[in-house]
Amino acid sequence: MPAGPHDLDPAALEDVACRVVREAGRLVVDERPADLRVASKSSDTDPVTVMDQRSQELVLRLLAELRPDDAVLGEEEGGRAGTSGITWVVDPIDGTVNYLYDVPAYAVSLAAVLGDPTTPGAWESVAGAVLSPVADELFHAHRGGGAWLTTASGSRRLQVTDVSDLAVTLVGTGFGYDAQVRAGQGAAVAELLPRVRDIRRQGSAALDLCSLAAGRLDAYYETGLNAWDRAAGELVAREAGALVGGPDDATATGELTWGAAPGIAAAFAAMVRDLTARHVTARH
Ligand code: IPD
Repeated sequence: MPAGPHDLDPAALEDVACRVVREAGRLVVDERPADLRVASKSSDTDPVTVMDQRSQELVLRLLAELRPDDAVLGEEEGGRAGTSGITWVVDPIDGTVNYLYDVPAYAVSLAAVLGDPTTPGAWESVAGAVLSPVADELFHAHRGGGAWLTTASGSRRLQVTDVSDLAVTLVGTGFGYDAQVRAGQGAAVAELLPRVRDIRRQGSAALDLCSLAAGRLDAYYETGLNAWDRAAGELVAREAGALVGGPDDATATGELTWGAAPGIAAAFAAMVRDLTARHVTARH
């Protein structure tokens, strides 16, 4: 994995991530307009709202003040280059379809990563935060510091479940925006369902990974994720004791991201690798 700057302080980066997602979360909830001015991105079902753009602009502005030498890569247009070796990876609203329908399961996700977040396997998150603004739940972590959930009533350390039997595993997953990819993802889920307790499709990959960390899911997998969907949530899940991987055990990729409680991780990884390899042929 990439080496960081000499003065790398992951705990300080975690504080920055928490502060910035709180401000962006306040914006997307308090200033949600009646007309979200929805446009489509990769397909007709892939929306972007004016608030995705405004949230990202706010994150960029705050990071320019707090971390002027760092780069920023965002889901929406308008990132920037940096000189410090740290890149902030932001999803200004993860769960945009939920936001559109006023379903509260959406999040602002922000991670500080080392390496090149546009190259699979060439980057690593060192700090991050995922805010579910309506629930007022802030999930946060830095490398080696544990995973934490902060709410109005305080902070608690997160720990994945101790499940040991795949047959009673509650699995989160998600689907891409491309119709052909979805057909394959649906075929994979159809084979998975009879082998586990049940599935949940929450609509935000960042919250899925934090749910795994909090013991609200036993495992999660998805094909076709981008770095901004998972950079912060993946770190939170790992710091809560989850094993996280992809096509191989070490690295989650856009092709496949899975995370699981250690007691079922090997069996779960083998199952989702097989199912997605047979059914899902392209990325979204
Ligand atoms: C999406 C959500 C969703 C997942 C999709 C993502 P967005 O992100 O995380 O849960 O299934 O793959 O693209 O578009 O709402 O930022």
